[in-house]
Amino acid sequence: MKKVLIRLPRATEDPDTGKKIILNKSEKYYVESDSDFNYNYGSIKAKTIKGSELRSGKDTFYVFDPVFLDNYKKIKRLAQIITLKDVGAIIANTGINRDSEVIDAGAGSGALSCFLAKIAKQVDSFDVEDKNLEVAKKNAKLLGIDNVTYAKGDVYNKEEFKNKNNTYDVFTLDVPEPWRALDSAYDVLKVGGYLVIYAPNITQIQETVLKLNKKMLHEKTIEIIEREWSVKDKVLRPVTKDFGHTAFLSFVRKIN
Ligand SMILES: C[S@@+](CC[C@H](N)C(=O)[O-])C[C@H]1O[C@@H](n2cnc3c(N)ncnc32)[C@H](O)[C@@H]1O
Repeated sequence: MKKVLIRLPRATEDPDTGKKIILNKSEKYYVESDSDFNYNYGSIKAKTIKGSELRSGKDTFYVFDPVFLDNYKKIKRLAQIITLKDVGAIIANTGINRDSEVIDAGAGSGALSCFLAKIAKQVDSFDVEDKNLEVAKKNAKLLGIDNVTYAKGDVYNKEEFKNKNNTYDVFTLDVPEPWRALDSAYDVLKVGGYLVIYAPNITQIQETVLKLNKKMLHEKTIEIIEREWSVKDKVLRPVTKDFGHTAFLSFVRKIN
């Protein structure tokens, strides 16, 4: 059984000033509760990994069952997977909920499809690569998700989806040439449904938006920038690291 252990920061007191000095930051570990757990400063016997708190040498650990996000962060990753900030924007801007039927391509590692399946009624995900589909299926199993299907399918070929016309509320599209999937997306979406294009390059977005038919309305294209802040006694500023670009998100609505 998996457990999450959080070790509090290691701190000492400066003998001259009496101020607390942090020696090591807090750490989070994802462990098997039936195996001994070794970490940088010691070892914890499996039989003691229970309850809500345990001690090992000078360290205190808080123990709890993993939540969905703890498990999600451990899934196997093949290609680039979608980031949490972008998943959040997709859910917020399409209103995916427990009644939603979602189609997703390409499946990749299944990160986006698994996250959406936690919220939607059903997610059907497609990829051209068998090896990716296998990883996505394993990840869904690890996460205990049973309302997602993974199947081989070329989203550029609308004939492969012809028995699914007007079926889906949302289509999430994360493939290299999204403009080639527009006919498939138009056919399988219900009127009022959303196509979400996730693409790292703005040229991919431009080519796709310019090729939309008149029954597909481009609502907006956005980029989500997330800035993490350091909040300490004497430090109160953005964390010093690149504000990495991930991808652009375009929201398109099937209007008739
Ligand atoms: C960047 S990955 C998708 C990652 C996924 N959104 C996730 O969060 O794990 C892009 C995927 O698109 C798949 N792909 C490329 N062309 C495709 C096509 N014509 N039809 C379906 N999938 C395709 C690739 O095999 C690859 O797995």
